[in-house]
Amino acid sequence: MDDDRPRRYVKVDRAYWAGYSNLQHGKHELIRHYLGGWFAKLGSWAGRVVYVDTHAGRGRHASGELGSPLVALNTLLKHPHRDRLLKKSEFVFWFIERDEQHLAALRGELEALGQLPEQVRTVAQAGNCFDPLQKVLESLREHGSRMPPAFIFLDPYGFKLPGSLLRDLMKAGRVELLVTFMWRYVNMAIAQAKEKTQSGVKFAETLDDLFESAAWRSRIVSDEPADRAKQAAELLRERIGARWFTNLSMLGENEATQYLLLHFTNHDAGRDLMKSCVRRIVPHGSGRVRKREDPRQGVLIAPEPDLGPLRSWACQRVSESPCHWSELGRLLRAEDWLESDLWEVLKQLVDEGRISCEGNFSRRADPTFRLNSLSGEGQG
Ligand SMILES: C[S@@+](CC[C@H](N)C(=O)[O-])C[C@H]1O[C@@H](n2cnc3c(N)ncnc32)[C@H](O)[C@@H]1O
Repeated sequence: MDDDRPRRYVKVDRAYWAGYSNLQHGKHELIRHYLGGWFAKLGSWAGRVVYVDTHAGRGRHASGELGSPLVALNTLLKHPHRDRLLKKSEFVFWFIERDEQHLAALRGELEALGQLPEQVRTVAQAGNCFDPLQKVLESLREHGSRMPPAFIFLDPYGFKLPGSLLRDLMKAGRVELLVTFMWRYVNMAIAQAKEKTQSGVKFAETLDDLFESAAWRSRIVSDEPADRAKQAAELLRERIGARWFTNLSMLGENEATQYLLLHFTNHDAGRDLMKSCVRRIVPHGSGRVRKREDPRQGVLIAPEPDLGPLRSWACQRVSESPCHWSELGRLLRAEDWLESDLWEVLKQLVDEGRISCEGNFSRRADPTFRLNSLSGEGQG
C-alpha cells in the first residue's frame, strides 16, 4: 500500500470500499446495461473487443457488491448471446490498478471465477493507468495500426485526467469513454484557480491539463449550477473531439452534483444506446441519481418522465417546416429524450388535432408531420 499517500486520499479510499452507496450502484448499473448492448453489437462482427478499466479497484466492496471489473466480466459471461458472441470475437478485459493491495484483491476475485472461456482474456496490471495507455498509443502509431473497438472506463477519485490522452484514445479507433468526472472538485478548483496563491496556480495547471487549454476560464461561467456542469462537460467533449456526450448526474447528500458520469462516443448508435441506458437507471427522466436512496430497494412502479417540454419541442420543430419522422428522430439525438418518448408525444398531438400526419402513422412508413394552423403550440 502507498503509505505516503495523502491522509485525505486514504480516507476517501477506505470509505469507498467500506460500503456501497446508491451512486456506486447507479454507476455499475449503467456499465452493465451499456455493455450488454455494446458487447452484443460490436462483438458480433469486430473479431476483438476490449473493455479497459483504468482505475479498476478491488473487484468487490466489503459489503459484498461487485466492483466494475466484475460487473463488466459478468455482463459478458451471463449474456444471453454469449456463446454466439464468443464464436465471433475475442473479448479482452484489461484492468489497471495502482494500489498493490487492491490489485491483489482483484486478482483473487478473478482467480475465484475459475477457468474462463477461451475467447475471454483478462489482464490485471499494476501501475499508473496513464502510462500503459500512452504506451499503447505509441505502439499503434509506430505500427500505423488502429485500436480494436474499445470501451474505456476511467473512474478516478479526483480529476487529474490528461485531456490530451483522452483525445488521442478517442482518435485511435472505435473507442468510447466513460469518465467519472468529479464535478464538485473541478468546480471548486475553478474557483480557487482564480486566486494567485500557490495552490491556485496548481489547480489552474491541473485544469489546463484536463481541458488541454485555458478555455475553462471563459467557457465555464454560468451561475446556474446545472448549466455550469453542462458547460464543463461540453468543453471536455469538444476538447477530446467526441461527437456526443451523454451525462448521468450523481447527487451527494445535499442534493448538489457530486460527479457526472460522462460517456463520449463518435457513433450515433452509441449515443442512442447510452441515452436509453440512462433512462433505465432513472425512469423519471431527470438523469440524476441520488445518494440517499437505497440501492437494494426495487422500484415497484416506474415513474413516468414529464413529456411536456418535448411536446413544445416537437411543435416548434414542425412549425418551422413539415418534418419527416426520420428527420425529427435525427434532431432528437442531441436531446435527452428517447425516440419512444417522441413517438408517444406525436401520437398525442395528432389525436388532439394539433399536428397532422401525412402517410401511415407508423415509424417504418416515415410519415411527415406538420403543425395545424390553429394549434397554438410551438409559436413561442
Ligand atoms: C473509484 S475507485 C475505482 C472503482 C472501480 N472502478 C469500481 O467501480 O469498482 C478508484 C481506484 O483507482 C485507483 N487509482 C487511483 N489513481 C490511479 C491511477 N492513476 N492509475 C490506476 N489506478 C488508480 C485507486 O487505488 C482506486 O482503487
